[in-house]
This record gives sequence, C-alpha cells and structure tokens, in this order.
Amino acid sequence: GRSVLALADFSAEEIERILQVAAQMKKIVLSDNKKRDFLKGKSMVTVFSEASTRTRSSFELAGKYLGADVINITKSGSSMTKGESMRDTLLTVSAMGVDAVIIRDSSEGAALFASKVMSPKVKVPVVLNAGDGAHAHPSQALLELFTLKEAGKNIKGMKYVIIGDILHSRVARSDIVGFTKLGAEVHLVGPRTLVPKELEAMGCIVDDDLETALKDADAINILRIQLERAAAGFIPTTREYARLFGINKKRLALCKPDVAVIHPGPMNRGIEIGYDVAYDEKSWIQEEVRNGVAVRMALEYLTLTEGKDIDALN
Ligand code: CP
Repeated sequence: GRSVLALADFSAEEIERILQVAAQMKKIVLSDNKKRDFLKGKSMVTVFSEASTRTRSSFELAGKYLGADVINITKSGSSMTKGESMRDTLLTVSAMGVDAVIIRDSSEGAALFASKVMSPKVKVPVVLNAGDGAHAHPSQALLELFTLKEAGKNIKGMKYVIIGDILHSRVARSDIVGFTKLGAEVHLVGPRTLVPKELEAMGCIVDDDLETALKDADAINILRIQLERAAAGFIPTTREYARLFGINKKRLALCKPDVAVIHPGPMNRGIEIGYDVAYDEKSWIQEEVRNGVAVRMALEYLTLTEGKDIDALN
C-alpha cells in the first residue's frame, strides 16, 4: 500500500477520489454506526508521542468500524519514557507484524522517517501521517475539504481564509497544499510574528489586516493559538490576541452571509474564537470531527486494500 505523508504527494484527482470514498464511508458505515469487514484481518498501531484527542481516536474508530484490529502507543504509556528512540519504537512495532502505522510526532519529517526506517526483514507497514511538527497533517486538511464541500462550498475559486498561528501550524501547511490544488484562493492572516510571508511561495496570499482578509470570505479556518509555544516569544498575550484577531460575531459579519466556520480543535474559546461563533449556525466544528472518522476510514481503506469500489462490497 501507499503511505500518506503529505498532500504534496497527491494529485488533485487523487485527493478528489479520497473525498469521494470518504463520502461513501460516511453514508454506508457512519450513518448507522454499523461495523463492516472491509479491513478484517488487518492490524494497525497508532504511535503518538504528542497529545491528541480527535486524530488518534478517529483513526482508531475508523479502523474498528472497518473490522481492523487497532492498538495504541502513546509516549507516556510506553518505553519512550525510558528513553527508547522513535526509530527503535517503530522497529519494535513493525516486528510485531502490523499493516499500518499511524504516527504523530513533534518533529517535521517524522512520518517520512517512519516510512524509511522500518526493517525490510519484516513486512513494511503503510505509514499514515497524523501530524509531524509544523510540517503536515494531511488527514486534517482532507476532513476540512470534505466538510466545506458538505457545507455546499465549491472549493474551486472559493475565498478560504486561515487565521492566526500559521507559524506553528501543520494544518495551515496541509491546507495551503490541498486547497490550492483544488483551486481555492487561500488567504493567511494573523499577527506578523505568526504569519511567515515566505508561505506565499506555496501559492497563497498573506493579507496585511484582518478586515481585508475576512471581506467576502466563503469559509474561514480559525487556528488554535499554540500557547505551549509561547515560550518561544512569538505569541502576543492572550488578551491582546483576542482583541486584535479573535473572531466574534461582529467580525464574522464581514464575511459572506453564508460563510462556513471551521476550527481544527482543540479550541481556546474566548481567545481565537468567541463563544458566540463557536456554536453559531455557521460553525461546522462538530461536523468536522464526525467527518474526520469518514476521511480516516477512506485513507485506511485505500491504503490497505486494492481500493475496490465500496458500493460493490456493500
Ligand atoms: N485537530 C487535531 O489534530 O486535534 P487533536 O490534536 O486533538 O488530534
């Protein structure tokens, strides 16, 4: 099977195919929460050295919905706390004979490393990147594309605005790649210290102020301010951030009336997103989480099987 390290490795047609399979998975598996056996006999392991609620549990649930066996390794409960390296952890896991490794790590390139390091003496598993440092989070960008299509947006030509801590965001980088491949106009806005102008080389637009960015937006993605990186000194105080860039109802009114609001989660409510926006009817934040299971079913199915049409299997 083919590993999923970054959306840069996928064509627009391949991305559309994943979204199409995710839609089928949502319809025939998620809609009635009924298990299927499309991945019966397959085994997967999640290896997460960074915290996660959504990504890890949705990859696990996705595998279980499709009949696979899934086990989880987190840093705190594993021999990584005794100093075992990521390389040795991956070699250990692959020696047990798993079909897929789903990895999250704070280092950029960790998923690529995982795809190269596992010993060919045993079966080499597929690697699915669940977030590597600030580099990529492909399944998150896919679930955002899926959700905005579901919200009725035509990705091609849409004004898509990513707001906030772009500097530390793997979601922003995967979004820039995925959304521009499908023809969206991607805008970035936030405090200058958190929006690297160099990202324009990836085909997006860096706006100077929030009002310009929000004007007539079709969809906005409000990023979490990564407070754990505040020690690096790039981040304004939370009060200052909320005042200058926090998205409240008044600011939301600058966007198109039917704007769709997404947020990758977890939210710092009252900082980057107001309470009045998080639960507004324009918010697709809960749907995103649900769609994350469908997208991850699609990724697991397509990478671990020959990708036969689901309707034929159903
Ligand atoms: N969106 C996202 O990656 O959330 P988690 O860190 O909870 O997995």
